[in-house]
Amino acid sequence: MTPLIAPSLLSADFGNLQRDIEMLNQSECDWLHVDVMDGLFVPNISFGQPVIKHIKKHARKPLDVHLMINDPGRYVNDFKEAGADILTVHYEACIHLDRVLHAIHDAGMKGGVVLNPSSPVCLLEDVVQFCDVVLLMSVNPGFGGQKFIENTYNKVRQLRDLCNRKNPQCLIEVDGGVNLENAPKLVETGAQVLVAGNTVFKSVNPAETIAKLKATV
Ligand code: DX5
Ligand code: ZN
Repeated sequence: MTPLIAPSLLSADFGNLQRDIEMLNQSECDWLHVDVMDGLFVPNISFGQPVIKHIKKHARKPLDVHLMINDPGRYVNDFKEAGADILTVHYEACIHLDRVLHAIHDAGMKGGVVLNPSSPVCLLEDVVQFCDVVLLMSVNPGFGGQKFIENTYNKVRQLRDLCNRKNPQCLIEVDGGVNLENAPKLVETGAQVLVAGNTVFKSVNPAETIAKLKATV
């Protein structure tokens, strides 16, 4: 199956964000992946709603907002207002995950759960039915440009089985260290959305790299 491609703006040139977004608008990518970090849930701090509002002004594709923040339920409506189309929250950051997923849907967004590399897929047994997407981290979150964790293939397989049983519509997304070498095996294993930061933005021709990722079968 042809994957959806979601370039991560974390690796874009923040001084030329409009230029990079316009490149993505022209490219074959499907979503824009937007990483929000609070310096607590992950060691790094990225950006928040004010910057996302500007991204939204220029983007002509859905914004896939990945919240790496503690207690993300506090900010569901703020990210809706900022322009998020898809909002994903970490299992590890939510005490009342069921409530947060419903709040995301009530706000009019698609929603889903993110799992850190150390969190097993079985944790999703009672929430996957409320997910439009599940995002599997294939690196420990916080930074772009890290090495892909091989165990992700096993987790994609397990998640495929869980989704087949409980929510066949749910998309499987993978984030971290995705490149042109591991993309084919990820897609073959069942990944449907590929996030790519450095692979896209550090390449000589980002639009061409996106096209190559998109051509993965
Ligand atoms: C990492 C972020 C990723 C990151 C991916 O914590 O969630 O979205 O930008 O970057 P690459 O593809 O370079 O690993
Ligand atoms: Zn991300």
